[in-house]
Amino acid sequence: MKNKIADCLKDVESFNAANIEELEQFRIKYLGKKGIIPSLFADFKSVSAEDRKEVGQEINNLKTAVQEKIVSLKENLDKGGETQVSGLDLSLPGESQLGGRHPLSLVRNEIIEIFSRIGFSVSEGPEIEDDFHNFTALNFPEEHPARDMQDTFFIERDPELVLRTHTSSVQVRVMEQSQPPIRTISPGRVFRNEAISARAHCIFHQVEGLYVDKDVSFKDLKQTLFYFAKELFGEQTKIRFRPSYFPFTEPSAEMDISCNICGGEGCNICKYTGWVEILGCGMVDPNVLEACNIDSKKYTGFAFGMGIERITLLKYQVNDLRLFFENDLRFLKQFQAAR
Ligand code: DAH
Repeated sequence: MKNKIADCLKDVESFNAANIEELEQFRIKYLGKKGIIPSLFADFKSVSAEDRKEVGQEINNLKTAVQEKIVSLKENLDKGGETQVSGLDLSLPGESQLGGRHPLSLVRNEIIEIFSRIGFSVSEGPEIEDDFHNFTALNFPEEHPARDMQDTFFIERDPELVLRTHTSSVQVRVMEQSQPPIRTISPGRVFRNEAISARAHCIFHQVEGLYVDKDVSFKDLKQTLFYFAKELFGEQTKIRFRPSYFPFTEPSAEMDISCNICGGEGCNICKYTGWVEILGCGMVDPNVLEACNIDSKKYTGFAFGMGIERITLLKYQVNDLRLFFENDLRFLKQFQAAR
């Protein structure tokens, strides 16, 4: 009999009712005329004299437990059905991670995080741009062949609207809206009329960077990008600059990092040179500052732009750009544990 009472007590403690009907059945099971408690009291007559006191107490304890359980579950159900499941806190976050971030989002977030640590804010601009913000303000002269560097998708001829070919258009918008000091990065999607292959896509992502203030020099540009490269690719990373040309910067450069795969020894990723290119940069051309109503005699600045796909390819050693756009779960799942 003692065992039976103990089992019933466990049952009562773990019981939960999803609705009022279940609670009523529980009440009948224990307290109803033919329920467990009355039948225990009936059997009580046959308990030996020396056990009576103890067993009597246990039956009474069980009865109290049943009554208390009914009161508390009823209260919960009246509150709107939130029942308390013993030992479970339903408000805790789940243990297993569902889904994961896309590798491009992971890298974009990491880039934002690194630059925000040194005071860069994040700004965004429209994907459909006018000619002024995508080209003219950035010192691309009308009919200049430099416009051919970027295979543009045109939306409208007059007024000329394009899908932005780079996020450099956002630096124009930021400078139009604010005066120095300006320190901002602009992540976003860009579009170019290119045939899709393992190495090129017509939609991809860039991060633009802009720093304008008094006395900003190439030294500041180098140090900022050096810091960035070491944070993203590791402490051992080396950088080098090669002279280049962009209409909106003078002087202009492209920046290489020591190959993060072979550490500079030479491999097929760096084509056995030990270096890989990761971005374009330079000192903002005074014409660009003036086009945005910033006094180029008072202020100087640097700018840079990088492709997120390219950085992600290098960081995760992916060899085909198209994988980023196909949403194949077998590919995406490999990044689930990445932060
Ligand atoms: N807009 C350039 C591109 O899409 C990248 C770039 C190069 C941005 C140099 C810059 C820069 O701000 O200074 O290829």
